[in-house]
Amino acid sequence: MNDPYAPTPADRFSFGLWTVGWQAQDVFGSASRAALDPVESVHRLAELGAYGVSFHDDDLIPFGSDDTVRDKLIGRFREALDTSGLVVSMATTNLFGHPIFKDGAFTANDRAVRRFALQKVLRNIDLAAELGAPTYVLWGGREGAESGAGKQMRAALDRYREAINALCAYIRERGYDIRLAIEPKPNEPRGDILLPTIGHALALISTLDEPSRVGLNPEVGHEEMAGLNFAHGIAQALWHGKLFHIDLNGQHGPRFDQDLRFGAGNLRGAFWTVDVLENSSGYPTAYAGPRHFDYKPPRTEDAAGVWVTAAACMRNYLILKDKVRTFRDDPEVSAALATARVDELSVPTLMPGESLTSLRAEEIDVEAVAARGMAFERLDQLAMEHLLGIRG
Ligand code: GCO
Ligand code: MN
Ligand code: MN
Repeated sequence: MNDPYAPTPADRFSFGLWTVGWQAQDVFGSASRAALDPVESVHRLAELGAYGVSFHDDDLIPFGSDDTVRDKLIGRFREALDTSGLVVSMATTNLFGHPIFKDGAFTANDRAVRRFALQKVLRNIDLAAELGAPTYVLWGGREGAESGAGKQMRAALDRYREAINALCAYIRERGYDIRLAIEPKPNEPRGDILLPTIGHALALISTLDEPSRVGLNPEVGHEEMAGLNFAHGIAQALWHGKLFHIDLNGQHGPRFDQDLRFGAGNLRGAFWTVDVLENSSGYPTAYAGPRHFDYKPPRTEDAAGVWVTAAACMRNYLILKDKVRTFRDDPEVSAALATARVDELSVPTLMPGESLTSLRAEEIDVEAVAARGMAFERLDQLAMEHLLGIRG
């Protein structure tokens, strides 16, 4: 029997090497799983139906490796990509693991750290270009502070911008076909992280030398840690033409970064996330990137359990895509959308060339307009019933 929820490369699912490869060490305990060879991850992900893989420099080449080791590791990885057919959909830099980054990378007070961070990123951008990654993610997990006086916020933003401008100039000079994607996060590992939300990152991008080269890599859990609505956040990123990449996972509200498999945690949020990603709703800027998972198989799982969670991320996405489609195709939903005046919002408030004088002269029956119900609950209940599987 044909499984309608079996992923294929056409679905463009991708995973970070650090996701399935996480050994589950946390602040309270050591690793509960053995290290996973990136070559094995590539083959397993391809067998499960993924199309892409992403990596930090250190996921592939342990920090401090000499050039001989480095070349050998890259060679094996490349061979695994060639035989499995998996592509490198994104690359990024580990600017958080080594103690040198304890006070940040691009925004560390110590200038030597900032210069080392740039070296590390430039080197891996060369590798990203070599392996064909179209997107390079900047996640500044250590860019932040725990205390008030230790970090001059405005100087830190100057240095953040300086670093991103330098990277853009480098990519342009080398002629690489790479765009940068900033990943916001409110906290963890720093007490407070710079560029904590989608909105903060968008504001910084607008001040860059080459803003068109830089967009966002929002993560479900990160916005939800800040109590924000992820579907709304990525809709705004799309509206700005800035949704370059995405980190899909699950989160139960504002607490530590849970990195659950996609669909776990806030399931209704996941439904609306898939709706935004799959339906451009008439707007020209649909999401064109990979469906990338950045999650952590819980510490309770053994090696086999890791692949169960990876498969589940993709399966849950496809199930939700199906539910979203039956919701959008349901004639009762179309009627409920009309009753709720959803399309009316696409009509400009003022007609072209209309003067505000004529607007001011218009008689509006305030009481009658105020008395109209919006019927959003009926619409939302229909969505709920599709999600629960009793319609469609
Ligand atoms: C996290 C982040 C990271 C980044 C990754 C890519 O909270 O740990 O989401 O997983 O996505 O480092 O830069
Ligand atoms: Mn995360
Ligand atoms: Mn992430």
